[in-house]
Amino acid sequence: AVVNDELKPRYHFRSPRNWLNDPNGPMYFKGIYHFFYQYNPYGSVWGNIVWAHSVSTNLINWKALAPAIYPSEPFDIYGCWSGSATVLPGDKPVILYTGVDPEQRQVQNIAFPTNLSDPYLREWTKPDYNPVIPPEDGVNASAFRDPTTAWYAPNKHWTLVVGSKRDRRGMAILYRSKDFVHWIKAKHPLHSSKDIGMWECPDFFPVALKGRQGVDTSVYGDGVKHVFKVSLDATRYEYYTVGTYYHLMDKYVPDATSSDDHTGLRYDYGNFYASKTFYDPAKRRRILWGWANESDSAYTDKDKGWAGVQAIPRSIWLDDSGRQLVQWPIEEFKTLRGKHIFVKNKNIPSGGFLEVKDVQTAQADVEVTFDVGSLEKAEEFDPYYVDDAQAFCAKKTAETRGGVGPFGLLVLASANREERTAVFFRVFKAQSKYMVLMCHDPTRSSKRESTYKPTFAGFVDIDIAKTRKISLRSLIDHSVVESFGAGGKTCITSRIYPSVAIGENAHLFVFNNGAQDVKVSELNAWEITEPEMNDEIIY
Ligand code: FRU
Repeated sequence: AVVNDELKPRYHFRSPRNWLNDPNGPMYFKGIYHFFYQYNPYGSVWGNIVWAHSVSTNLINWKALAPAIYPSEPFDIYGCWSGSATVLPGDKPVILYTGVDPEQRQVQNIAFPTNLSDPYLREWTKPDYNPVIPPEDGVNASAFRDPTTAWYAPNKHWTLVVGSKRDRRGMAILYRSKDFVHWIKAKHPLHSSKDIGMWECPDFFPVALKGRQGVDTSVYGDGVKHVFKVSLDATRYEYYTVGTYYHLMDKYVPDATSSDDHTGLRYDYGNFYASKTFYDPAKRRRILWGWANESDSAYTDKDKGWAGVQAIPRSIWLDDSGRQLVQWPIEEFKTLRGKHIFVKNKNIPSGGFLEVKDVQTAQADVEVTFDVGSLEKAEEFDPYYVDDAQAFCAKKTAETRGGVGPFGLLVLASANREERTAVFFRVFKAQSKYMVLMCHDPTRSSKRESTYKPTFAGFVDIDIAKTRKISLRSLIDHSVVESFGAGGKTCITSRIYPSVAIGENAHLFVFNNGAQDVKVSELNAWEITEPEMNDEIIY
């Protein structure tokens, strides 16, 4: 094999084999979490798409079932693409998904569980009256997909949006229904944005103004704001805004603090796409799922026989500032923590490093808090980069000596640190405030040439002059590095394919390439044990 099998992630959601992409229809139903995803039963590249199905009682251990929805009717014969689940009153789950028909039109179909008393809901029935939402009324039939979970609007209609575009205008086309079967297109989209291209996988949901609890998708009113997210086909990144849902007009208006375009907020500034949230009534939280693709060639994907994982499910809530969301790995994840080590009050001198020893770190969870001390030496901020953190990080990598930072972790590192992925912060002095940049720099992550090694970055909205501290958590899983800055305000996921730092040969370091010392106030590292992960399909 070209790619060492030890690079296969062990605790991230993956399929038994073959290609995987978008998360679909996540839901909680009678004690069981259901997760569906875009899947190719015949190979490890995209194609022949069905809805694969897995079930879990804790979102950590997964059992793979046979595909739930697969091409069988004219309205989905060329593919069963992304969609969402809605649990109707009376505990009745329903799925809406995009089918591709014989004319290559994208249509929206409905499916119901065949047998509600089967706890796994293995079989799904597609009624003959499908498609329930054909591309009519000026809708672009080749850009019309990924229906959201429906919400019950105050006007007593079930309401949902479908991703689309008109010319270069990204659109979330709105549909209403009294009975969930007959859908009528609204005159205006819920939201749209010019010169941006196709909006894939839209998501629209309320978040509580206070606290971390999630709210059901149909909740509206004084205690909530709304979040609207799209996956931008043109850039392959996702953007979300926080705003207000004016339900009388079925219009969503982003807040002035939230931008709609490529300068806007992202759940994740790395390899994370086609995400979808769901409300978990059992623990009153909203959970985010997102797909992390391979960053390797299709040739190696074929060779290893699988491609794609899902990021660790994240709880999400509105930050106290009201300007952005905060994300954190679901609490259940901690149950996988094994051997642990703890480091306290260690100075990392300018240009120095510290190895985190005595734990195996290819499959680990690391939490560290840095104390930056003085900000006097912070580099001047170049305002040219204010809209482009990623370009900034590509220019000033972990190697580029700075003032306050770069400091952070070297993960999946060889013993001599020649091979490593740097996860770090850099503090800048801007005109009236300090700016904190968070980066993933995998430029030295592997000797293998075929792998794509992009730097990823986002700004972290904290008042570092006040806190003087910043935390970082990285989930390392052989070929996945998923990082949460400042308690989940800025997140970055990368796919990494080390050539040396594999398995037992993977090391972990704290580093500081700034002009001044920084302190590790606390560092905790845990080995992560392997959950049950979709080993074989249970028929
Ligand atoms: C996003 C996407 C969706 C589509 C699905 C097909 O990754 O392109 O728009 O429904 O994947 O697999």
